[in-house]
Amino acid sequence: MLIKRPKSSEIVLASDITPQAVYQERRAFIAKMAAGAVAGGAIWEMANREAFAQGAAAKLAAKRNPAYAILETATPFKDATTYNNFYEFGLDKDEPAQSAGRLKTRPWTVQIEGEVKKPMTLDIDALLKLAPLEERIYRLRCVEGWSMVIPWVGYSLSELIKKVEPTGNAKFVEFISLADPKQMPGVGSRVLNWPYVEGLRIDEAMHPLALLGLGMYGQTLPNQNGAPVRLVVPWKYGFKSAKSIVKIRFVKEQPRTAWNVSAPAEYGFYSNVNPNVDHPRWSQATERRIGEDGFFTKKRKTLMYNGYPEVASLYAGLDLKKNF
Ligand code: MTE
Repeated sequence: MLIKRPKSSEIVLASDITPQAVYQERRAFIAKMAAGAVAGGAIWEMANREAFAQGAAAKLAAKRNPAYAILETATPFKDATTYNNFYEFGLDKDEPAQSAGRLKTRPWTVQIEGEVKKPMTLDIDALLKLAPLEERIYRLRCVEGWSMVIPWVGYSLSELIKKVEPTGNAKFVEFISLADPKQMPGVGSRVLNWPYVEGLRIDEAMHPLALLGLGMYGQTLPNQNGAPVRLVVPWKYGFKSAKSIVKIRFVKEQPRTAWNVSAPAEYGFYSNVNPNVDHPRWSQATERRIGEDGFFTKKRKTLMYNGYPEVASLYAGLDLKKNF
């Protein structure tokens, strides 16, 4: 987020080569469309069927929740999985896709502790079964000024929070990512104090929009996108959505989050998407939608709370310039 470096190397992904099964599925889809069997509506599905079929990960059956599915074209799968911020795997956008393959995502456990009546350690299968999986199509706006539209698979974080029964002292929730130098070459760098830590106020964490992400594009999360479990908080800048989480801690005090510790004047605790409050080094008024970047393509206007006004009541009376 802070550092600019020259691009490393060009890569060819396995997903660049269309496997036979994908080809056949695509043919079947085209035939269905021609027969008029596919109803309109889901814009992204049409536009991204091809991309959707790529990737080797396991399929995740999930029912789309129309209340949480914006009707904007989803970012092609290839862009969403090759243009990533995951500093544990390097600082360049293409590095996570190149080196996150080595991350072992099974077995995987998430420890839930702190101010809760029922602390527990859940493995990834238990998390996949904890609540019905939903597909939600959310905007993701990075603090750097770009955005994507991603069909996530998961359920409201509140489902998990209810299970552990927070005590009255639980005012904040802290999310801690894996930091394993053996698997994550970037953890040797000094850009951040590892592990990556993020946090939410308990009422933010309980908001139904806050998603525990277990998949995207109908399949398990690719490693570079935060496998096997991550946070997705669509009304906040992307860095609040911690990847590859191993610990969730309920605490009394506001957590010291990784980016806030590293550059407190630039990255606040709240980090709500806000076109009226600029980053000290750049404007936040507009954004570049990944996949739309032609020479003449106009930037999009960034929306307050990233276009999720339903969260505004969480911040009633709060000075959003001071609490950026
Ligand atoms: N989580 C960890 N553990 N490490 C990171 O470097 N980067 C954040 C966030 N979560 C990051 C992280 C940032 S800056 C963004 S914009 C999003 O992940 C990007 O998510 P995506 O790669 O799935 O688009």
